[in-house]
Amino acid sequence: MAPLTDYEKYIRTEELLALQKAPDALACHDELQFQVVHQVAELWMKLIAHELRLAVRLLDEDALTRALHALHRVRRVQVLLHDQLALLDTMAPKDYMTVRTVLGNGSGQESPGFKLLLRLPGELIFPALERLLARRGVTLRAIYEDHVGHAELFAVCEALTDLDQYLQQWRQRHLMLVFRIIGAGTPSLKGKASELLERGMRQRFFPALWEVRDEVFAEWTRTMLEKGQETGYHG
Ligand code: HEM
Repeated sequence: MAPLTDYEKYIRTEELLALQKAPDALACHDELQFQVVHQVAELWMKLIAHELRLAVRLLDEDALTRALHALHRVRRVQVLLHDQLALLDTMAPKDYMTVRTVLGNGSGQESPGFKLLLRLPGELIFPALERLLARRGVTLRAIYEDHVGHAELFAVCEALTDLDQYLQQWRQRHLMLVFRIIGAGTPSLKGKASELLERGMRQRFFPALWEVRDEVFAEWTRTMLEKGQETGYHG
């Protein structure tokens, strides 16, 4: 056997490419795609968590430009994670049933990468934002009342809102995939899949970043009404 090249050694292609079933062990042709998409998703989620930990460290060091760069990278990976779900749109319902029979009780809910992404915003990221705002003596409300005066902090808040929004968009896209492959009414292992997934879609990872928009609009409506001015359909 030819010795491994430096590329193969560094990327560890031997181990990596042995992580999928051999062609003759596949339950059906499409199982390879199913396995690869899930494995790649776990790698992207691992990278997102790695970058988010860096962003938290940089926020704590007041290195905001560098924190924003890390969050920008996270956003790009989130786009890949979202878009790659489209590959599975090409899987027929019958082929998914065949894969299901070899998947045991396995569920995406057990994904270690996704479970980590559900935890990090509340446990690590929002507390870092709160520490930053406390050091600067500014509130979220003040930032959104004057986003130009607080441009840098506003950019950080918006980058975190993006993170939240893209997590939600992934869930929406995944639900569309589930409708397409197993239908809207099919019960899954854990009850009715669509209801369970729709509940998840209502989760906000940084509730305060969404609530502040209500607060700013409520204040605007109040002052406009005081002045006897129209607020249009928001009033
Ligand atoms: C053939 C395509 C897919 C189908 C039919 C499917 C189906 C489902 C279903 C029915 C659930 C609800 C829980 C359960 O009953 O297990 C679920 C949850 C989940 N799946 Fe998928 N899935 C697919 C692809 C993927 C891919 C590619 C990923 C990437 C990691 C993924 C990750 C997840 C996650 C993270 C959850 C939990 C979601 C949440 O808590 O909001 N799924 N999936």
